[in-house]
Amino acid sequence: MSVKPVVLVTRKLPPKVEERLRHDYQARLNPDDRLYSKDELIAQASGAQAILPCHTEHFSADVFQQLPAEVKIIANFSVGFDHVDVEAARKKGVVVTNTPDVLSDATAELTMMLMIGAARRASEGEKLVREGKWKDWSPAFMVGTQVTGKRLGILGMGRVGQVVAKRARGFDMTIHYHDVRRLPPEREAGAIFHETSEDLLPHCDFLSIHCNVTPATRGLMDARRFSLLPDGAIFVNAARGAIVDDEALIAALTSGKLRAAGIDAYNNEPKVDQRLVALSNTFLMPHIGSATAETRDAMGFRALDNLDAYFAGREPHDRVA
Ligand code: DGY
Repeated sequence: MSVKPVVLVTRKLPPKVEERLRHDYQARLNPDDRLYSKDELIAQASGAQAILPCHTEHFSADVFQQLPAEVKIIANFSVGFDHVDVEAARKKGVVVTNTPDVLSDATAELTMMLMIGAARRASEGEKLVREGKWKDWSPAFMVGTQVTGKRLGILGMGRVGQVVAKRARGFDMTIHYHDVRRLPPEREAGAIFHETSEDLLPHCDFLSIHCNVTPATRGLMDARRFSLLPDGAIFVNAARGAIVDDEALIAALTSGKLRAAGIDAYNNEPKVDQRLVALSNTFLMPHIGSATAETRDAMGFRALDNLDAYFAGREPHDRVA
């Protein structure tokens, strides 16, 4: 029997996923779920043919340079792969995969929660109840804005964006979107396409971000683009913080240009800009878009399917580099 490949697993994964890992590979697990420093990551990878990381580990060009030559594949436990310098991976001949599809439902659910939570002032309301500061009820008390029937703009109409559109239709929302590619009519399902993000923004009572981080989208939501939104729009981001210029977001929330924001993904996670925390019109979650038990299992199995394919000499289904 051939020797099982050594797989470095950087974070604690669901029991069923670790069971399969132990069965099929020489799995180097992290039962304490400790976040490795760059040097620890490189040291831990010694003798491994594969790494199964999360977005919490960064594979910069510098890391690739120091990574042991025997590492042949990075099978991410994430759909986003902006934590991996794919050019550096290609140069080193390291295959990179991700886990698309399996987290679209969970992330879309969280997106709906962010939209509703921001619109209905969930953070403020919960704080009042928890802190025992809720004193009275009146028609003027805690008035938010309705989601039902509003216009939702989706920036990035990929897998997650399309599920968000589907869920939002249940709230009678009109869907507008921008993506680099227009969807075929059957997938568009009546959503209104805009050629550019600038064309999209004036049509958004709610704007939800669902694009990848690329050189074109990094810092895309800047002061100029926020200014193109209708006054009092609600901004939602369950994708990546890097798409947003925080200074511009905070200015828009402070001036009232934005009524509120629901956010799950930040620049410099987990160090959230304290100005976002201090604002009462933000509804903030700690990057948990895909954090359901069902989805965590599915992400793990998808990453393992990619590893299995690679080590069986097949092309991994979700190869991104
Ligand atoms: C993803 O899969 O990209 C999620 O953000 C978790 O990493």
